[in-house]
Amino acid sequence: MKDAKKAQVDDAHIAVHWKEEGYYQPPARFIGQANAADPDILERFSEEHFPDCFKEYADLLTWDTYWQTTLDTSNPPFWKWFVGGRLNVSYNCVDRHLATSRNKAAIIWVPEPEEERTEAVTYQDLYGRVNEFAALLRDFCGVKVGDRVTFHLPMVPELPVSMLACARLGVIHSEVFGGFSGMACGGRIADSQSRILVTMDGYYRNGELVDHKAKADEALAVAREQGIEVDKVLVWRRHAGQYASESPMVDGRDFFVDELLNDYRGTLVEPVSMPAEAPLFLMYTSGTTALPKGCQHSTGGYLAYVAGTSKYYQDIHPEDTYWCLADIGWITGHSYIVYGPLALGTTSVIYEGVPTYPDPGRPWRIAERLGVNIFHTAPTTIRMLRKLGPDEPAKYNYRFKHMTTVGEPIEPEVWRWYYDSVGKGEAAIVDTWWQTENGGFLGSTLPALQAMKPGSCGPGVLGIYPAIYDEDGNVLEPGSGRAGNVCIRNPWPGSFQTIWGSPERFIQTYYEKYCANKESKDWRDWPYMAGDGAMQAADGYLRILGRIDDVINVAGHRLGTKELESASITVEEIAEAAAVPVIDDIRGRAVEMYVSLKPGFSASSEIEKKVSKAIESHIGKIARPKNVWIVPDMPKTRSGKIMRRVIASISNFADIGDTTTLANPEIVEDIRQHVQGEKVDRGETPRELTAEELKEMAAFGAE
Ligand code: WTA
Repeated sequence: MKDAKKAQVDDAHIAVHWKEEGYYQPPARFIGQANAADPDILERFSEEHFPDCFKEYADLLTWDTYWQTTLDTSNPPFWKWFVGGRLNVSYNCVDRHLATSRNKAAIIWVPEPEEERTEAVTYQDLYGRVNEFAALLRDFCGVKVGDRVTFHLPMVPELPVSMLACARLGVIHSEVFGGFSGMACGGRIADSQSRILVTMDGYYRNGELVDHKAKADEALAVAREQGIEVDKVLVWRRHAGQYASESPMVDGRDFFVDELLNDYRGTLVEPVSMPAEAPLFLMYTSGTTALPKGCQHSTGGYLAYVAGTSKYYQDIHPEDTYWCLADIGWITGHSYIVYGPLALGTTSVIYEGVPTYPDPGRPWRIAERLGVNIFHTAPTTIRMLRKLGPDEPAKYNYRFKHMTTVGEPIEPEVWRWYYDSVGKGEAAIVDTWWQTENGGFLGSTLPALQAMKPGSCGPGVLGIYPAIYDEDGNVLEPGSGRAGNVCIRNPWPGSFQTIWGSPERFIQTYYEKYCANKESKDWRDWPYMAGDGAMQAADGYLRILGRIDDVINVAGHRLGTKELESASITVEEIAEAAAVPVIDDIRGRAVEMYVSLKPGFSASSEIEKKVSKAIESHIGKIARPKNVWIVPDMPKTRSGKIMRRVIASISNFADIGDTTTLANPEIVEDIRQHVQGEKVDRGETPRELTAEELKEMAAFGAE
C-alpha cells in the first residue's frame, strides 16, 4: 500500500499546468481605513518573533487574570497557549461592550420570509438573553463546568444566545449543523456524552417551515442505542407560543424554552472565570473513517485568534455592519459570525434561509437595507448567485469595502465576477483557506498590504509559517511547480487541542507523518499536516488543490466517504457501496454512489431511491447523491479493496488509467458503458476537466 500511495503522490509531482494569474491591488479607499495598513505588522509577526507575536492578539481580550506563559510545549503536540491566564468568553463578547455600545445592534437577524420583521438584538438585549438562558441551563438543567451540551439549531439568534450562555458557565457546547439528520445528531450526542439537547421546533428554508423537532426524537433514540440517555430536550420556538412541529412533546423530557424562561426573567449569572486552555466547544468534522472527529477548541487561544484574524483579515471595526452567510453550524459561523465579530463589538448579521430565496437579488437587498459593508461567503454560493442572477448586484445600492471567500478553491472566473459584479470593483477580497481543526484562517492576504491573486488564497497569515512537503518529508521550494502536502510548521493559538476522546487519533492524523522526533519538545519537530494538496508559487502564495484523502467537499462541507458508504449499506438490498466525487459547477463536488446488490435482488429505481434516502437520513440533505449507480460488482484490487479512482474517473468521463492491478478488469468497461450512457441520456456530460480535476479523480481514494 505504501508504494502505491507513494506512486500516487509522485504523480502529483509532475508540474500542474495552470496560468499564473495577475495581481489585483487593494483599493485605495480600503487601504485608507484598514486596521492593518502599516507593513510593520508583517515584521512583528515574522518567525523570529514567534510565539510572542501572538500577545498582540491576546491583548484584544479582557483577561480576569493575565497569563504568564505564551506557549507551553511540554507535551507535544498538545500545545497550550496563554497558560496561567483566566477569562470568560461571554464576558468578552457581550458584557465588556455594554459601557460603550449598550444600544448598538450586536446581531441583526433576517428571517427568510421577506415579510417577517428583521430583528435587531442590541448588546443590552443580548446580555439579558444570554444571562437568562445561562440561568436556565444552570438551575433547571443542572449543568456544570466542563459538561457538554449538544445543540441542533438552525440560523436563529437563539443559537448564539445558547453558545454564549454555555460559555458563560464554562460548559462545552457542541452545535450540530441544523441541516444534518437526527441520526447524525444522535451520534454526536453520544460521542460527546451530552445529557442535554437544545433544539428548535421549526425554521424556514426555501419558503417552507421545516419540522425540526422531529429530528430530536430520532437523535435521542440513536444516542440511547449508543449508551447515552439524554435527560432534557430544550425546544426553542420559532414563533413563541406557537408550536411548528408534528412531533409530540414528551412529558418530563421536552420543554419549551420560552415557557421556562418566565422563571428567569432578569436573572444575572456571574461569568465563570475559565483557564485559557479550558475547552470552549466541540465541532464535529468528517474524517476518512466512519466516525466524525470532535474537534475540541480552547477558550483563550481560540478567542484571541478569531478576534485577531477578524480584526486584521476581516477588517472588522466596531462601526461596521458585517455579514457572513455561512451557517453557524459550521466552524466558519462559530469563528466569523459569532465569536470573532462579537469579541470586537461589531454588528453581525444572521440570515435564516437560502440566499436565492425568493430570488437571487435577496442578498443584495439585505445588504442595501442594512448597510452591510463587509460580506463573507463561499464559492458555492457565489457560483449559484452568478448563475441565477448575474446582473442582480448592479440593481442594488450597497457598497462593500471588503469581501471574503472560504471553504473550497474558487475558480479565477468566479473570483472575477465576485470582484467586479458583487464588489463593484471597489472591495478588497480575502480568500481564506483553513479547516474546522484550525479555529481560524491559515492562508490569506492581509487586505490592505498584500495584493490579491484569483485562485490562490495567499501566503500564510500572520504568525503562520506554511511549508509544502513531499512524501519523504522534503520541503518543496516555493515556485518549484510541484504539488505536495501542505503543512504548518508552527503551533498557533486558534488550533484545536485534540479530538474529543481520541488523543491518539489526533497525533496520528495530523502529526505522525512529518514528525521529526517523537521525543522532541521543540515545536519545530512537529509540523501540522492539514491533509490538503497544495502548490506554492514563487511569491509564497498557496494554491490549494483539495483534500489528499478521500473526503468529498460538497459546497464547502466535508463528507467522509466511509460515512456515505456505511449509510448506503443500511439498505437491506445493498451488499457494497462506494462513494466518489463528481465535478459540479455549482457545488464544487457532488456525491455519486456506486452500489452492488446482495444475491437474490435485482436492480430497480426503488433501490436507488432507498440509498438516497438512507444517506439523507444518516447524514443530511447536503449529502444526497446526484446519482446512485447499481453495478454488478465493484472494480477491486486483488486484496479486495474497491478502486474508487476507477469509478470516480468513470463518473467524471476522465481517463480511467491503469486497470491491470484489478482482480476483475473486465467489469470496468461494463460499468463505464452503463454509467456514461445514462449520463449522456440525462444530459450530464461534464465540461472539459482541468488538469487538477483530472488528477484528483485519478488519485481519489487510491490505496
Ligand atoms: C477546503 C472550512 C481552497 C480545504 C473553513 C480544507 C479551501 C477544507 C478553502 C476544510 C479555500 C477551505 N481554498 N480550499 N479558501 N477553505 N478549503 O473543515 O480542502 O469545513 O481542508 O473548514 O475545505 O473544510 P472545513
